[in-house]
Amino acid sequence: MKELLFSGVQPTNNLHLGNYIGALKQWVSLQHTYPCLFSVVDLHAITVPQNPRDLQERVLDTAATYLAIGIDPVRSPIFIQSEVSAHTELAWILNTIAKTGELERMTQYKDKSAKDGVNASLGLYSYPVLMAADILLYDTTVVPVGEDQMQHVELTRVLARRFNERYGETFVVPKSLIQKQGARIMGLDDPEKKMSKSALSSYNFISLMDDAETIQKKVSKAVTDAEAEIVYNEAKKPAISNLLTIYHHMTGETVAELEERYKGKGYGDFKKGLAEAIIAHIGPVTAKIKAYREDPAELMKILDQGRDRANEMAERKLVLVKEKVGLGRK
Ligand code: AMP
Ligand code: TRP
Repeated sequence: MKELLFSGVQPTNNLHLGNYIGALKQWVSLQHTYPCLFSVVDLHAITVPQNPRDLQERVLDTAATYLAIGIDPVRSPIFIQSEVSAHTELAWILNTIAKTGELERMTQYKDKSAKDGVNASLGLYSYPVLMAADILLYDTTVVPVGEDQMQHVELTRVLARRFNERYGETFVVPKSLIQKQGARIMGLDDPEKKMSKSALSSYNFISLMDDAETIQKKVSKAVTDAEAEIVYNEAKKPAISNLLTIYHHMTGETVAELEERYKGKGYGDFKKGLAEAIIAHIGPVTAKIKAYREDPAELMKILDQGRDRANEMAERKLVLVKEKVGLGRK
């Protein structure tokens, strides 16, 4: 079977270290193993209210981030979801086979709709179906995501199988790809909750746009655990375990090597080293994002090409799907 990898992130706020370690960083190495498509999923972003002008800026920031971390757009098209209309069309068709009970069970929907109750949007409810459309349009076989998105990929598999049973073999059933360490990066201010763009305090996350001074400040304020040793123990030392995971992803050193290096040393030394490691890794990425944004001609060209390549693939599939369902003229 021909492999294909599809992934995307929402252009809401700037991406943070959790997004980078949990999702984006894997893409860079995976692009050498699989043919890939990477999307900026702006249709997902509008399932919660967005400021239209800010959204447009964030879409370009996000695309620039994909390039800055090292995605090669020739090998792996980068495109904006709303520019390929087949995504919305397929989502509608899949809406007709998804069950409301299935969508009600989605943890992300439960969390995001909790405060609005019956006023939560229908788009938020059907969000996982749009994600299924993203994935199924391209005969995707592999979907690298953070742990929180696994349930949505599971639903995608269910919908693909259901469609195939009802209308005949049409969709490839994809698999999620979760990396073990770093699938859940926790907040710097609260190691019980995951690092999140929507956190109330900016001390929760390190953004890929933070400068060196901000990174230093945020790391030095990060909460720590009771005993001062630098050892990995998720149950007893959640804060240090999270910081060790981040450190590992910044330098490539194993957690065991880091524990050895900081044996007998305190949190001060550890945090100083961690801040330096983050700055060394993220600084060049931040600089590249800025360069793409300041001179957007290249970025526009890449997004045009990505849109055209994605459109061609998606349209082919959509024609087949419509035929199977019996839509349009014979
Ligand atoms: P989102 O910010 O929800 O659009 O997430 C974009 C990608 O980053 C998804 O694959 C998420 O699973 C992943 N992600 C988001 N937050 C974290 C986190 N704190 N730790 C690890 N991965 C994350
Ligand atoms: N829902 C995903 C997230 O919040 C983003 C996303 C949308 C996605 N469509 C996708 C991820 C398709 C992988 C594949 O992270």
